[in-house]
Amino acid sequence: MIGTTMIPHSRPAIDRQEIRAVTDVLQSGHLAQGTVVERFERGMAAYFGVAGGVAINSGTMALEVALRVLGIGPGDEVVLPSYVCAAPWQAVQRVGAQACLVDIEPETFQISADAVRMAITSKTRAIIVPHLFGLPADLTALGQLGLPLIEDCAQTLGAMEHGRAVGSVGTLTVCSFYANKLLCAGEGGMVLSRDPALLERARALREYDGASSLNPLASNLKMTDLQAAIGLAQLERLPEFLERRVSLARRYREALAGTTAIVPTVPVGRSHVYYRFVVRLPQRGSGSSNLDECLGRLEGRGVQCRKPVFRSLHRYLGLDGFPASEAAEREALSLPLYPALTDDEATQVCLAMRDEWQHK
Ligand SMILES: Cc1ncc(COP(=O)(O)O)c(C=O)c1O
Repeated sequence: MIGTTMIPHSRPAIDRQEIRAVTDVLQSGHLAQGTVVERFERGMAAYFGVAGGVAINSGTMALEVALRVLGIGPGDEVVLPSYVCAAPWQAVQRVGAQACLVDIEPETFQISADAVRMAITSKTRAIIVPHLFGLPADLTALGQLGLPLIEDCAQTLGAMEHGRAVGSVGTLTVCSFYANKLLCAGEGGMVLSRDPALLERARALREYDGASSLNPLASNLKMTDLQAAIGLAQLERLPEFLERRVSLARRYREALAGTTAIVPTVPVGRSHVYYRFVVRLPQRGSGSSNLDECLGRLEGRGVQCRKPVFRSLHRYLGLDGFPASEAAEREALSLPLYPALTDDEATQVCLAMRDEWQHK
């Protein structure tokens, strides 16, 4: 790369508001979980329109808490997609249940409701539904399967599926506030629900002390007021963040018109908030090397791209029968798109994309 600075794949949008909020907490003398965490929980619950939220130290642990709250353990099965990060699978392992992996919808990358239907057995106790890349999964079809849904909103906030907001439908919803997320706090997570009894159970798992009896499953999963202060400041800016994402996605779509790259599919009834702008590469019959070469060329033009999922879970486990997940691994490429991206950087991304995928 000559003469240009690298545009990173992700960059948090941290401004005066976040810096002031953290400074206020530092000056307050109370850094651990306190009133700022409570305000963040109330703010997120209001955002989703649910009864409440329980702040947790990560999205991964929020998933584990959600499973425990539903009483899921040994002998139970939980359905989840293969094409997702390892966190949901690991949470299922930690509670001692069996993870049943299913394939995705080939065009949207979301968990396939048809595949879930086929995977359900008498032992199935829940479905983990990650809304990947900013697009809702097919909540309507999944909701008809009659099982508790754990909506994993780590990658999607504010998107709609047939008039319902993601995170407002499932029995439980989990969030991640990791540094590269739509709303970040450095690290952090949350479990949310319409059901106060489930929230009470989640709260009991978050702290080792203070209960009337010893709970062997309770732990220290607390978020600090420092993280919650960042989260609250980001929550206020979230509508503006999502607007910027959608407007950048519009620019990318225009830039890619007439090229060989396949832009994100948005099915009727769903809206997209573009946590990731994931294009599908035209296949040249050479497997994943096509994708790796493309990542290298874009990096050479100063645009850092990523495979949006590191590796499908079934491949770690040596399982077969996941053609859509495997196609996504071969063909999906995520471009830099986030509120902190400048207009000049977006122009550089557009030029690099057109150069890469124009008809040759
Ligand atoms: C879909 C999904 N679920 C869960 C997680 C785990 O969240 P965390 O990194 O906060 O543990 C992530 C990654 O951040 C994710 O993308």
